Amino acid sequence: MKMLFVVLTAFLCSLTVQSQKFENLALTPPMGWNSWNKFGCDVNEKLIRDVGDAMVSSGMRDAGYQYIVIDDCWHGKRDDRGFIHPDRDRFPSGMKTLADYIHSQGLKLGIYSDAGDKTCGGRPGSRGHEYQDALSYAEWGIDYLKYDWCNTEGLRAEGAYTTMRDALRAAGRPVVFSLCEWGNNKPWEWAKTIGHLWRTTGDIYNCFDCVQDHGTWKQWGMLQILDMQKDLRVHAGPGHWNDPDMMEVGNGMSDSEDRAHFSMWSMLAAPLIAGNDLRNMKQQTHDILTNREVIAVDRDSLGIQGFKYTAKDGLETWFKPLKDDSWAVCFLNRGSVPHQVDFDWKKQMVSDDVSKREFDPRRTSYQIRDLWLKKSLGTTEIPLKATVPGHDVLLVQLSR
Ligand code: GLA
Repeated sequence: MKMLFVVLTAFLCSLTVQSQKFENLALTPPMGWNSWNKFGCDVNEKLIRDVGDAMVSSGMRDAGYQYIVIDDCWHGKRDDRGFIHPDRDRFPSGMKTLADYIHSQGLKLGIYSDAGDKTCGGRPGSRGHEYQDALSYAEWGIDYLKYDWCNTEGLRAEGAYTTMRDALRAAGRPVVFSLCEWGNNKPWEWAKTIGHLWRTTGDIYNCFDCVQDHGTWKQWGMLQILDMQKDLRVHAGPGHWNDPDMMEVGNGMSDSEDRAHFSMWSMLAAPLIAGNDLRNMKQQTHDILTNREVIAVDRDSLGIQGFKYTAKDGLETWFKPLKDDSWAVCFLNRGSVPHQVDFDWKKQMVSDDVSKREFDPRRTSYQIRDLWLKKSLGTTEIPLKATVPGHDVLLVQLSR
């Protein structure tokens, strides 16, 4: 009897271990590139290889970008046994060969599927094939899975995402698991043990401040998505991030808007997934995406999401606690005309309930560094006076 108990306990323990997400992945917000925002369904192996090449030659890999993620529409058909295969015309060499190539560049490969019968683009989804698909991904050498939520009628989100987590775990290859159910079922409340990041909103739209209404669904501009992050910061941290969607930097907004977008995603400790054509980037786009000091704000090891401190006349002030008692502070001008900043540090006393950190420039003097101009702006002993152009930011780091 005692023996039976021991065996049963050991069996149950092994089940528990089995049903956990891969730990120690994404301890800082994942960085990479995804095909969707720029290329939609128009994906093929040449594009993915070329983007991998560009990731390396542009210096983006060395700046921290790691994952090349193929979004929707890579799929071909399932075979007689139910295993999925890539579209033969678009990926004639197969996924394993592509993954080998991407790995040989020092990068990682991501792929996309959906919890329903079909993906949002109408390709085969993973419903009923989760374990088979996870096995295929492991065989191919996939490192990251974005898992969408179209065509999931009758499914419970937590259960569906748990099934795929368990399938990935059973397949044995560590995979960053990116939940993409648009925040419909508040994944921040239940997904911490399931995935490494979860989308908090519907899809981003390549616009600073607008809403694109498709009738049954909407796409959101950068500011709209930013506003939807309210109250979510308490749920983010190393290994489990709020994902305000992939970036539109380089896809047509102005340089100042792109700079504001990149800065705010960094203040949010958001995954930094580029969505532009890395093969043809103008210098300004490159410089935004590879600003290492801004990336360091995003990837700060404390993993604390920033917060809005003040908002007045379209000018917002955001704070993000960083390691070594440093802070990032971002002045965001939501309006289209320049805004004067006159910020008297000595009158501020910022106390963050979530991280239990305090910023008190009355007691401590901080050095101020402008992370875009890459120069010192003095210390917090005197008020900061500056002009922030329309749809732009002033992003500074304060160090003791
Ligand atoms: C959904 C997702 C997008 C993208 C498309 C692909 O809309 O939210 O990010 O993956 O599907 O069809």
